[in-house]
Amino acid sequence: MHFEDPKLLMALRALDVEHKPAVSLAELTYLAIGGTTDLLSIRRHETIPELLNLLDEHAIPHKFLGGGSNLLVMDGELPFVVLQLASLDPDVVIEGNIAHVDAAADLGRTVTFCAKHNLGGMEGLIGVPGTVGGALRMNAGAYGTQIGSYVREVTLYRAADRRVETVRGGQISFEYRHTSFAPDDMMLSVKLELPSKPYSEILQGIRICNEKRRASQPLGQKSAGCIFKNPPGASAGRMIDELGLKGFAVGDARVSDRHANFFINAGRASAADMLALIVGVREKVHAAYGVTLENEVVVWNA
Ligand code: EPU
Repeated sequence: MHFEDPKLLMALRALDVEHKPAVSLAELTYLAIGGTTDLLSIRRHETIPELLNLLDEHAIPHKFLGGGSNLLVMDGELPFVVLQLASLDPDVVIEGNIAHVDAAADLGRTVTFCAKHNLGGMEGLIGVPGTVGGALRMNAGAYGTQIGSYVREVTLYRAADRRVETVRGGQISFEYRHTSFAPDDMMLSVKLELPSKPYSEILQGIRICNEKRRASQPLGQKSAGCIFKNPPGASAGRMIDELGLKGFAVGDARVSDRHANFFINAGRASAADMLALIVGVREKVHAAYGVTLENEVVVWNA
């Protein structure tokens, strides 16, 4: 979706929102798949309610983009604009055991920044790509750690109320790859409360997680991490592997040889290829195990 209305462009400038025309989502997502649309980069959180009113007035649909690490975007000209928070500097500020983190901050860098201030707990999240906002929204986790455990307070744009709100961690439910946030809520910043730990000890934990990840996951390839959530008490990766589906492909969309719950863009895979692979694998798993795998990857197909 592309717009040029001079009045709208002027209103965006007044809100300090940067308008980037015809941006390729393939360049902003780890799968390197996705069509083009205009991107609006938000520099000041407090302008968001006004920005969304403005888009509504002009009947412009929108979606919020975090780090693009867990996202499959449809091909072609996209029927919505994309909103993204601009990076702040600094994006993490430490105060005692509290880290004040901007939602646009990179999760891995946040973990190491906190570690350098002798704040631990999040070692398991070290190799999880994406932003802190994205991690919060879906309660990202790995190696027994989930970000929700450390959330003291979240500031978000609550779409239903059309305003910026701050909620305490206890008021949010954080479950396995799921939270009580609404799909159109936009994470803005978070206060994490982290246990004190010596840097050297945190570093040791980080090294162990990095090694485990390197040994079992296809790092450095174009993927969105695990495609499916694990069904209760089972591993989607193991189920897909047991069916001999490593290497199974639709076009350039391929089940990883290393970890069967990672689907790789091995060249020029389209969203349609990747979706067909997801549907195909889900059907095969259902036929063999009677289990319907649920997407972990977020799909923007409308
Ligand atoms: N396995 C296989 N074949 C495979 C993949 C896995 O047999 O191709 C077996 C493993 O040998 C192991 C079991 O399945 O016995 C579980 O595998 P793994 O330890 O790799 O964990 P996972 O359940 O597949 C989860 C998360 C990962 C996270 C790791 C480490 C989900 C869907 N996945 O993977 O998160 O990094 O644990 O904690 O919960 C993600 O969310 O995108 C993600 C990658």
